[in-house]
Amino acid sequence: MSLFAKKKIKNCLGVDIGTTSLKIVELSQSKEIRRLENYGEIPVEGIELNASKDNFESKKDSSFFSSTTKQISKAISVLTQEANFGSKKAVFSIPDFSTFFTSFDLPPMKEKEIPEAVKFQAAKYIPLPLSEMKIDWAIIEGIPCKKKGLFSKEISGTKLNILLVTVPNDVIFKYQEIAKMAGLELLFLEAEVFSLVRSLIRNNKGVILLVDIGGRSTTCSVIENGILQSSHSFDISGNEFTYALSRSLNVDYNEAERLKREIGIRKGTKEEEILYPLIGLILREIKKLSSQFSQSEGKKVSKIILAGGGALTPNLEEYFSEQLGIKTIIADPFLDIVCPPSLSEILKKMGPSYSIAVGSALKGLESIV
Ligand SMILES: Nc1ncnc2c1ncn2[C@@H]1O[C@H](COP(=O)(O)OP(=O)(O)OP(=O)(O)O)[C@@H](O)[C@H]1O
Ligand SMILES: [Mg+2]
Repeated sequence: MSLFAKKKIKNCLGVDIGTTSLKIVELSQSKEIRRLENYGEIPVEGIELNASKDNFESKKDSSFFSSTTKQISKAISVLTQEANFGSKKAVFSIPDFSTFFTSFDLPPMKEKEIPEAVKFQAAKYIPLPLSEMKIDWAIIEGIPCKKKGLFSKEISGTKLNILLVTVPNDVIFKYQEIAKMAGLELLFLEAEVFSLVRSLIRNNKGVILLVDIGGRSTTCSVIENGILQSSHSFDISGNEFTYALSRSLNVDYNEAERLKREIGIRKGTKEEEILYPLIGLILREIKKLSSQFSQSEGKKVSKIILAGGGALTPNLEEYFSEQLGIKTIIADPFLDIVCPPSLSEILKKMGPSYSIAVGSALKGLESIV
């Protein structure tokens, strides 16, 4: 082996197709050091990409799928070429509203029996036939029965709490098609909440609530010791704030967006007064989720991490801390990643909305050997 052998460097893209904007991050890894190589974002105005569960049937029309697929893949090609992204390997995230989460208990059983039992239970919970869905699952709590050695006695396991994640096959095909048309090698597709957990939770122990306030929806997820326990999405989020300001102040959308980003919910402003009821609805959902968790598990949420572009609404972080009595911080997915120092201020602002793309790219780096 030559002393001057080239160090092995891995590169991967993380692609987050949000309803407001498409974000791509390129990370590299050499030994344990991860670097930000590139990033870019473009608005996806007017492109309805993702089929939600409610109107999934009505969106099965193939022309709808093929036209949006083309537009999105074109947008990805333009962005990766113009911003000179180097890697062709990519991990795409799937939005929470295209993903169905549920959890259920299984009696103690052997590890190899779990997949069949999950499939059997899954059929009771998911809205479409199993043949039309891809299912994935993880053990949230409990230990399966195990044999330590070939001839040793079996160790009795415990009741198992299973988290089930299902995605319709059509959604998966669509993402595969987008990646192919954009000339990318799709390494993985993952539900966006898992990308968020990877980029924001790291080694944080205890119960943490992740709140992703995007353009179209907000997702609250409870994470305990790095493992997703439950997740819930609803439609109040960033764009709704802008519409509310635009309506109440009788200004156009762009002006309302500017006011939201500059004033947000600063105390004593009319913007605060207008946005207060909407923020109140988000707080109500958070309280519901955290009290459900503390009632069933007897543990309290110790920290809230705000992600998504909406996390940057001025005074939101302080407001959440005050109203919920829980330490609240703004997401910083670039914390453990080497970035050019000249970008540190910009990255702080970008962090919340790039959290998913960073988590997806990290998944890619973990998988490339
Ligand atoms: N500085 C800011 N202050 C307040 N809101 C902001 C700021 N920057 C972005 N936003 C808002 O964040 C929202 C977009 O967030 P994000 O990029 O996370 O959405 P998305 O991932 O495209 O949407 P979704 O997750 O709902 O599909 C928009 O409503 C935008 O107005
Ligand atoms: Mg998003």
